[in-house]
Parts: sequence; structure tokens; C-alpha cells
Amino acid sequence: MTRVLFVCLGNICRSPAAEGVFLHLLSEAGVRDRFVVDSAGTGAWHIGERADDRMRAAADRRGIDLPSVARQVTTVDFERFDHIVAMDRSNLSTLRRLAPPDARATLRLLRELDPEAPGEDVPDPYYGGPEDFDNVLDIVTRAGRALLEELTAAATDGPQRG
Ligand code: 4NP
Repeated sequence: MTRVLFVCLGNICRSPAAEGVFLHLLSEAGVRDRFVVDSAGTGAWHIGERADDRMRAAADRRGIDLPSVARQVTTVDFERFDHIVAMDRSNLSTLRRLAPPDARATLRLLRELDPEAPGEDVPDPYYGGPEDFDNVLDIVTRAGRALLEELTAAATDGPQRG
């Protein structure tokens, strides 16, 4: 089982989109049962909320469900997950500050994996228009495909093959 946590600031736009899109990609690839996928925010403002209506509507137009209910990242997440994937460099530095010394999870930036703009932030769409929500979906889909390829390759190359 591979455990992946996507993290943004509010946990109502970017990381719920990354989570829902990644789940969708896993289902398409027939490997949904090999992964635990979740999302969380570094901030606490939106705890308990579904993803932003505009983000859910944009995902719905692509046939993608966003199941997340917002929560804040905790130190326990660094033990429970194998990979914690930040949506932008600010989230990544917050996560680095929170990480306990014996953290199990690897911390990384989602767009390290984006072939079109490696190392960039996923832009926050919260104060933007519909095209900004679509842009988030395009980015998390490209990077999510690359992440899935990497993680499934790692799983089949590892010592527990078969
Ligand atoms: P997210 O977007 O980090 O992609 O969920 C945001 C949503 C809300 C706020 C900030 C970012 N906020 O400050 O309320």
C-alpha cells in the first residue's frame, strides 16, 4: 500500500483537486486498491468544509468527484503517509517546519513532476475566475500522471515484487 497526502493552504481548492484527480487516475489505471489518498491544509480556516463549489463544478465537468472534507495537517501525518506532496513552495516550507525529526514521509513539491513547468507553484485559484480552476485541474492531472508512473514503477521495481 502506498499512502499519499496532498497539501495546500486552505484544503478547499488545490489539494482536494489533486486528491480527486489522483483517485480518478488510479481508478483508470486499475490500481485504486493499492493506494491511500488524502488531502489537508496548512491553515485551519476551512476545517469541515467540502471543496470550494467552483473547484467541484470544474472537476464535475470533467467527470471527476472531489470527496474531501477539509482538515488541517498534523504531525501524525508525517508517520501515516509515505509521500506528502505540497501544492506550492510556501506550503512546502510550512511542512518542513512541522516535520518531526523521525518523519517517515518524503516531502516534495507537486510540480517537480510537471513536465511543462517543473518546480513552479500550483497557482491559488481562490480569488480567480473559472479559467483558474480549470488551470489547476490541468496541472494536477499532468503532475498526477507523472506521480502515478513514478510510484507504480517504484512498487514493481522494489524487493517485494510478485
Ligand atoms: P487552497 O486555496 O489553498 O487551494 O485551498 C485557498 C482557499 C482559501 C484560502 C486560501 C487558499 N483562505 O485564505 O481562505
